[in-house]
Amino acid sequence: MHPMLNTAVKAARRAGNLINRASLDIGQLKINLKQQNDFVTEVDRAAENSIIETLREVYPSHAFLAEESGATAGSSEYQWIIDPLDGTTNFIHGFPQYAVSIALAHKGVLTQAVIYDVNRNELFTASKGGGAFLNDKRIRVSKLAKLEEALIGTGFPYRMFEHIDAYLAIFKEMTRRCAGVRRPGAASLDLAYVATGRLDGFWEFGLSPWDMAAGALLIQEAGGLVSDLSGEGNYLKTGNIVCGNPKIFNQLLQSIQPHRTATLQAY
Ligand code: IPD
Ligand code: CA
Ligand code: CA
Repeated sequence: MHPMLNTAVKAARRAGNLINRASLDIGQLKINLKQQNDFVTEVDRAAENSIIETLREVYPSHAFLAEESGATAGSSEYQWIIDPLDGTTNFIHGFPQYAVSIALAHKGVLTQAVIYDVNRNELFTASKGGGAFLNDKRIRVSKLAKLEEALIGTGFPYRMFEHIDAYLAIFKEMTRRCAGVRRPGAASLDLAYVATGRLDGFWEFGLSPWDMAAGALLIQEAGGLVSDLSGEGNYLKTGNIVCGNPKIFNQLLQSIQPHRTATLQAY
């Protein structure tokens, strides 16, 4: 395993232990509202501090972009992109679908990825050019070729509703066309599931870089495709993502594009 990935795994497991301990007593949690339907707990913050501390100990000059503390400049070309607890709403409700997500970008290119599902003890990892793994076993995207037979993941709009009509039109079409649509509630795991072939494709609008960075590299290393709504690579910037195995990706993107409204058109 690449030494940087190894350090990221250590950080993810430490944060995972912290989250697991806290999940035993969610009644005690202090919950704050960042904005409408956007919650943060002391566990999110503690997990993030622990991840940054673990990484900084080994890589003191690296930069960080983390959900709760924002961007911290470094003096090197490396930036860690961190979601300490992806799926906070699930976590608060004791709904067991949440994860730690850590990615490393070198000169803006994603090179290492870890997503740790603390409930199932599933560790998803990838290094650029080195393939994607689930608990040390190589993973690949599914081989399914028809959208009509596909299980597709998504994330509902829950905070910003400017694109809700376009979203619902796509949702309607997918519900009619696909074998099934799922909304488990932790984008990093949705992407990891595309990488393992549990989902054949996924789309969501309005995500943040820390929701997607690790999952995107996992999918690419598992043989899948990831893009923004134009079929280009700007998903970390635009927040809009479409992905899947290569065949499903193309059909999904083609189905989504006609529903783009004027505001979504640019993305
Ligand atoms: C959220 C989850 C969710 C997605 C949201 C994200 P958080 O992350 O990934 O699946 O639909 O857009 O913000 O806030 O729980 O880290
Ligand atoms: Ca998140
Ligand atoms: Ca989070």
